[in-house]
Amino acid sequence: MLDTQTGNWSHAFARRARNRGGDELNAILAGSPPGVLSMMGGFPNPRTFPTDALDEILMRLLRDEPGAALQYTACEGIPSVREYLSDRQEQLQGRRPESPELIVTSGGMEGITLACQSMIDAGDTIVVEAPTYLGALMAFAGVEADVEGIPMDADGLQVEVLEQRLAAGTRPKFLYVIPEYQNPTGRTLTLARRQALVDLCRRKGVLVVEDVAYRELAYDGTTLPSLWSLAPDVVVQLGTFSKIFCPGVRLGWAVGPREVIAEMAAAKQNTDQCAGALGQRLVEEYGRAGHFERQIPATRALYASHWRATERALERHMPPGCRWSEPTGGFFTWLTLPEQIDTIEIRPAATAAGVAYVAGLPFYLGDQGRNELRMSFSNLAEPDLEVAVERLAGVVRERSP
Ligand SMILES: Cc1ncc(COP(=O)(O)O)c(C=O)c1O
Repeated sequence: MLDTQTGNWSHAFARRARNRGGDELNAILAGSPPGVLSMMGGFPNPRTFPTDALDEILMRLLRDEPGAALQYTACEGIPSVREYLSDRQEQLQGRRPESPELIVTSGGMEGITLACQSMIDAGDTIVVEAPTYLGALMAFAGVEADVEGIPMDADGLQVEVLEQRLAAGTRPKFLYVIPEYQNPTGRTLTLARRQALVDLCRRKGVLVVEDVAYRELAYDGTTLPSLWSLAPDVVVQLGTFSKIFCPGVRLGWAVGPREVIAEMAAAKQNTDQCAGALGQRLVEEYGRAGHFERQIPATRALYASHWRATERALERHMPPGCRWSEPTGGFFTWLTLPEQIDTIEIRPAATAAGVAYVAGLPFYLGDQGRNELRMSFSNLAEPDLEVAVERLAGVVRERSP
């Protein structure tokens, strides 16, 4: 019942609603005040949005097939779109999923939700990289999972630490990992560790959930084998078109062992039932016309140039005692400031100086990351990147030893 005195409905909320703690994510999605240069969100640069090609494709779909493109679809996705996605996996990752091994999703975040809905009961353990993607941590909290972090270094997840934890009795339902240009650190799991990780998980019967949101955004165009291509028997891969196409079309895929995919498809019946048909057909038509092959190299070059501008600015302006990761693709670098600087505490000063970032703490599970922060260089124009870094460096310098 509504508390009519206060208009308060909080007694009606589910227990898991208290676990969300999404202030940081809300701040990212809300954007920064005017005059503040935002290095917050993992937002693709609008210059990469393929408006011209989409204009033509969209008009054609609406004219020629409104009965399909604007209709509900099968939960697993439109057959021709599934075929296209299978072709693409084969072309880019060297393995073609069989039909029951693939579903179309409404983006990467939905893939994470489906993995949770189909595999996680309250109190189950999920193992993650520490730090990891905020959206995933929130989804895991939302299903009341116990989340355990495994430390990373410059080569990605420390597989030997995972091995020790498993030997000590950790029994995860799955391991969630972002092997390329990780969110938030920008780091990439090396080939040797990929092999060691899938070997370990296969031996121990641990399912790996691989999130490849940034995989196609290598600055030099080279990519390591995906975990799914190395071990399709123990890996579910979650992909998205948000970073290489546009997040305004919510579209992605999940490929993996057929029983797991079948459960995820069943869970999708309880979320949105099917990914939007219009978005599915847009991506298929765009891809079949060869646009990804033309556009992705330009997209990579843009982000490579943004990273170089950011790196130059960091080298020029940051005071001694600051370190940062050196991404070889994607949107992010991870800054470590001198130990006594708390990146949540200095945020008002940074905002006043006209720059915004995401503080390190919420990407971890415990009290780590207080002197760390994520800097996203995807969305600002290059001259603004230099100004943003200079502004932040000014705030850091005032507090440096
Ligand atoms: C690692 C990672 N996974 C998934 C997503 C969500 O992708 P989507 O827009 O497809 O839901 C993001 C977006 O920032 C991300 O960084």
